[in-house]
Amino acid sequence: MRTASEPLHDGDLARLRQLLAAAAGLVFDDSRRASLSAAVAERQRLTGIGDVAAYLDLVCDPAAPERQSLLDEVTIQETHFFRNPPQMRALRAEVLPELVRAARGRGRRLRIWSAGCSTGEEPYTVAMMLRELLPDLSGWDVRVLATDLSQTALRTARAGTYGERAVQLASPATRGRFLLPTDAGRHEVRRDVRELVRFAHHNLVLDPAPRESFDLILCRNVTIYFSRETTRALVRRLHGCLRDGGYLLLGHAETLWQINDDFRLVAVGGDNPAYVYQRPAPERRVRQAERRTAFRPPEPRAQPSQPPEPPPPAACPADTVRAVLADGRYEQAARLARRAADAEPMRPELHYLLGRSLVELGRDGEALPALRRAVYLEPVAGLAHFLLAGVLARCGDPSAAAREYRAAASTLGLDPLEAAAPELGGRSPHELAALCRQLEGQLAGSPRPGSPR
Ligand SMILES: C[S@@+](CC[C@H](N)C(=O)[O-])C[C@H]1O[C@@H](n2cnc3c(N)ncnc32)[C@H](O)[C@@H]1O
Repeated sequence: MRTASEPLHDGDLARLRQLLAAAAGLVFDDSRRASLSAAVAERQRLTGIGDVAAYLDLVCDPAAPERQSLLDEVTIQETHFFRNPPQMRALRAEVLPELVRAARGRGRRLRIWSAGCSTGEEPYTVAMMLRELLPDLSGWDVRVLATDLSQTALRTARAGTYGERAVQLASPATRGRFLLPTDAGRHEVRRDVRELVRFAHHNLVLDPAPRESFDLILCRNVTIYFSRETTRALVRRLHGCLRDGGYLLLGHAETLWQINDDFRLVAVGGDNPAYVYQRPAPERRVRQAERRTAFRPPEPRAQPSQPPEPPPPAACPADTVRAVLADGRYEQAARLARRAADAEPMRPELHYLLGRSLVELGRDGEALPALRRAVYLEPVAGLAHFLLAGVLARCGDPSAAAREYRAAASTLGLDPLEAAAPELGGRSPHELAALCRQLEGQLAGSPRPGSPR
């Protein structure tokens, strides 16, 4: 039997990649070889199939239950309650109240879809906000559909009980109102929240979209694992099942730039806005057609799998942090990067990786000094300028953000190693530089991005 640390051979890896792309749209780049190999070794161990080729023959059969187990093993389920705080604030203060107002005139019906809900924290977060907004639901027809590819994630979601880490961003008031402490020191989502949410297995790439007209779709941190073509097709479908005026929320690092022009980008919230997409009402579509860019930086296309063990300390700490980041283990990446940057404070890439990990965790305030240090030590670090610009824009400093976008536009592509960086999300440094120039222009044109509504 192959052990978890033995990498798959090229031919087996190619076959596996093809299978995962066809079965779920998942794209794995070369940096995922070790974690994919470990995932397959784990499944081989559990099924008792010693031969890799025989295992791959088995999972190539679409009807084989083992195919689902493999998908469960390779998908990344990183999530938590109130993930992406600026976006959650925007949802609570503006987007949901607006949708509730509109629904009052439309039969008091609200439909929300958490597409790629993982272990359930995201749809439960939305359901908690709905309960706050609509304490008395009599006369209302409100449902949150929550779907995912992973059956193990859905089992956890349905159980509705979470550890401390998952709820760390929930305020004491939210905890008191919506979470019940269990004897085992965990947190159970209260029944009135749970009854708003229905979980279902659904493959966003292969299955038809639900036959609903949604007011809000959250599809956050899911398309980062897809090719651009797969994302385009998915976003077209999501657009088709949103009602006019309905909203689409992506992850903080996802963008519709060069993906879909049918949405308008809306900055919600005053000083520290979140950017959300809206399906315009028909009369606004023509007017909005010119608005074709998004403020979100792209995210690694790099891929999933949860290797049982973190990579051993490597000769190069930056490589270790990159591998952990690519696995979506952001907390661990931040810890490792901080330790490495403390040990070697003159290495700009360690500060950059620390900043990147913190941005992934939505901790912009902490990311700021790390990214500033990165560009101070390496003024031509295009990706660091780019990330810093996004953080500054979110922190409400548009003129500093514009300067950083300008610096990013003039430095991206200077470092030949950058061309293969997963942060580019499959784009060339040249394409990203063009986006930076656009963003700089937009920010320079408006002292502070405000809500266009
Ligand atoms: C990183 S989690 C995101 C969870 C949550 N949306 C959030 O942002 O916190 C990504 C989820 O996408 C799911 N996923 C990946 N490919 C999928 C597909 N083809 N169809 C449905 N879900 C998919 C994974 O199983 C995983 O639970």
